Amino acid sequence: MNITVIGTGYVGLVTGACLADAGNNVFCLDLNQEKIQQLNDGKIPIFEPGLEPIVQRNREAGRLRFSTDVVASVAHGELQLIAVGTPPGEDGSADMQYVLAAARAIGKHMKAWKVVATKSTVPVGTADRIRDALKEESKVPFAVVSNPEFLKEGAAVEDFMRPHRVIIGADDPRAVALLRQVYAPFQRNHERLMVMSVRSAELTKYAANAMLATRISFMNEIANLAEVMGADVEEVRRGIGSDPRIGYQFLYAGAGYGGSCFPKDVKALQKSAVEAGSPLRVLEAVENVNQAQKHRLGQKIRRKFGDRLNGRTFALWGLAFKANTDDLREAPSLTLINDLTVAGAKVQAYDPVAGHGLKKDGLKVVSSALDALEGADALVIVTEWQEFRSPDFAAIKAKLKTPAIFDGRNLYDPQVLKGLGIEYFPIGRKT
Ligand SMILES: NC(=O)c1ccc[n+]([C@@H]2O[C@H](COP(=O)([O-])OP(=O)(O)OC[C@H]3O[C@@H](n4cnc5c(N)ncnc54)[C@H](O)[C@@H]3O)[C@@H](O)[C@H]2O)c1
Repeated sequence: MNITVIGTGYVGLVTGACLADAGNNVFCLDLNQEKIQQLNDGKIPIFEPGLEPIVQRNREAGRLRFSTDVVASVAHGELQLIAVGTPPGEDGSADMQYVLAAARAIGKHMKAWKVVATKSTVPVGTADRIRDALKEESKVPFAVVSNPEFLKEGAAVEDFMRPHRVIIGADDPRAVALLRQVYAPFQRNHERLMVMSVRSAELTKYAANAMLATRISFMNEIANLAEVMGADVEEVRRGIGSDPRIGYQFLYAGAGYGGSCFPKDVKALQKSAVEAGSPLRVLEAVENVNQAQKHRLGQKIRRKFGDRLNGRTFALWGLAFKANTDDLREAPSLTLINDLTVAGAKVQAYDPVAGHGLKKDGLKVVSSALDALEGADALVIVTEWQEFRSPDFAAIKAKLKTPAIFDGRNLYDPQVLKGLGIEYFPIGRKT
């Protein structure tokens, strides 16, 4: 099938590459000329495990094209997938300007029936706005579908190739049939496609992210309570996760959630709920807890070293908002760097892939985990990269002025560190 993907970011590029890998002819459009140039030069502008070989082989096979040509992109795909950004506006609502611009461009140039589907995370009612935008520009018939994307950065290819579910919000049987055909190769062992109303599909995506964010904030509060009550959140996590109604996933306490989705989606859902006259009080708490949790490591550091950190240097391991991505959007590391540098400290940060060009007063980004420790007072861990899980503790102890580790990801065994004579400050654990 001829498919156009509009927006070639984390979602659009993975979607385009995986659809091409299933044999489709995919045209990826982006307005960012530099990004398209990079892709046409065989470079991948983002870090996403497993993506590069898929892009390369499909480009070489001629099934995957990258372009800034809007007219050609509209002409190409019977299916037009909108995967542009929906960043937070100033009031917290999702900024719909890119989605609506993409819809208008399709309307302006389309000459035959098309399915226009949103992969972007969009508020309930967006399909109606897209329909209006298309009608303003065109008399050609079309169908608008909500097809929210659930992939996770860091495991995006795997998630796309083996989805837990594919949600299709549509009321046009011809559009549903077309999307069934598109997704059939990705659900061969059992059907995972769910057809529902457009509005339910739009809300499902927000509800999923809001639920996951809620679990994280809940565990962060339990962790903070465990600290004052002398309990250990890891033991509590195992205790509650064993209940199948709860499960083990997304129950890790830490330095707060970040990334390009949870923070903005929680705010956008809350904003639209308030506008609809049915505010989500739970989500207000989730958001407040998360804001506070992002300062937790900074507070622990000041409790140990004092409020004025002039003359101190901290080694920071991990900048990305989570492991296996280069995405820094809303990363807890940025809050921590700000807290430390405002208090007068310097930060030496290392991340295997993220933040290499990052510039901030008081911050130096270095190229290895050991370099970050050079002349540092203590080590702070913010991202759970694999290479931080079993480090050379003797080298850490030898390099740090104070043998202390502040661990926003609870990577180590408190007893082991105690035995090594390293002071350990995890989140919600008994030390
Ligand atoms: N990143 C994720 O993990 C993830 C997961 C699920 C859903 N989503 C949702 O998917 C959407 C895209 O997210 P992302 O992280 O891929 O964003 P991104 O910022 O990485 O990419 C968006 C791309 O769209 C391009 N663009 C903007 N307007 C355009 C237009 N009119 N025509 C063509 N290209 C245009 C931008 O140049 C950019 O390259 C968002 O709504 C997001 O909430 C993201």
